[in-house]
Amino acid sequence: MAINKVMVIGAGQMGAGIAQVFAQSGFDVLLNDMNKEALEKGMINIEKLLTRAVDKERISESDKTETLNRLTPSSDLQDAQSRDFVIEAIVENMDVKTKVFGELDAIAPKHAILATNTSSLPITEIAAATNRPEQVIGMHFMNPVPVMKLVEIIRGLQTSDETYQTVEDMTNKLSKSPVEVNDSPGFAANRILMPMINEAIFSLHEGVASAEDIDTVMKLGMNHPMGPLTLADFIGLDTCLYIMEVLHEGYGDSKYRPCPLLRKYVKAGWLGKKSGRGFYQY
Ligand code: CAA
Ligand code: NAD
Repeated sequence: MAINKVMVIGAGQMGAGIAQVFAQSGFDVLLNDMNKEALEKGMINIEKLLTRAVDKERISESDKTETLNRLTPSSDLQDAQSRDFVIEAIVENMDVKTKVFGELDAIAPKHAILATNTSSLPITEIAAATNRPEQVIGMHFMNPVPVMKLVEIIRGLQTSDETYQTVEDMTNKLSKSPVEVNDSPGFAANRILMPMINEAIFSLHEGVASAEDIDTVMKLGMNHPMGPLTLADFIGLDTCLYIMEVLHEGYGDSKYRPCPLLRKYVKAGWLGKKSGRGFYQY
């Protein structure tokens, strides 16, 4: 199926990045958020990143203008009625996501594919909130979206081969590399990454080393571009906690229990870089 008109729900760090790469790849994009300030911030961030790309001579001034012309802010979910493809990047919470998918199912045209950028939640359950489960799929981008090459494509139980193929073709058109993953808690990326981050938090909690030294161990010892605590702050501690809870509940194995220090920070509103404080101050 040819996709041209795209809508991204959620203009936070992931949604804005997803909207940017779609617009840069020639798609007509609506970027939606229920929060006006978040929408404005998302649009401003995209413009800043495009200006930086012009300054670095990676794109031309006219590329930037054309990209911005393909991008329109939206604060009304009803705008989904003109779209071929909708991707959701809102909070990592099943109740909130299923509510939005139920609404999108009633608004979007019959042919439209509904995708989710969820980090860990079951695609099959999100799809069950709609009457088109064969057209619901996981399209999991990595943060920061304009930089990271990977997209995990996750089939729900009823996702059709045609939907899968369309999303894989689209991923290639975005110059990203797709991997096919089955629907299981945390998929592949976060089943592997998040327990490492959680273990780093336990190491801090138990006084094994300071936050800086834990990060240095992984940066200089394992050549990771960021230490795990810096990465947790960058992802968002609320998102890290939600993902650990999905792994814990999904596998029923105590090895996935979220570290109490992570819970404490989230309860305090220390969500990492986006709130100005997490394991570090910003
Ligand atoms: N948005 C867009 N572009 C960004 C960016 C952002 N938030 N942060 C950095 N960049 C760009 C910079 O503009 C820069 O591009 P230029 O060459 O044009 O200057 C480039 O990335 C490199 O940036 P820096 O030189 O400033 O810094 P760096 O070399 O340390 O790289 C990084 C930054 C790419 C973020 C790197 O530290 C890194 O790869 N970190 C790990 C990221 C990672 O693991 N992501 C996965 C998170 S898990 C996930 O996404 C799944 C989930 O469900 C939670
Ligand atoms: P974020 O908190 O930065 O942004 C979420 C945005 O969604 C906010 O601007 C909020 O106003 C908006 N929103 C909430 N409910 C909405 C609704 N009903 N309609 C419209 N907008 C709504 O979050 P994020 O880090 O961008 O994460 C978004 C999703 O992407 C989550 O499912 C997360 O698990 C996933 N994800 C996150 C990362 C990461 O590193 N942060 C990586 C991959 C995937």
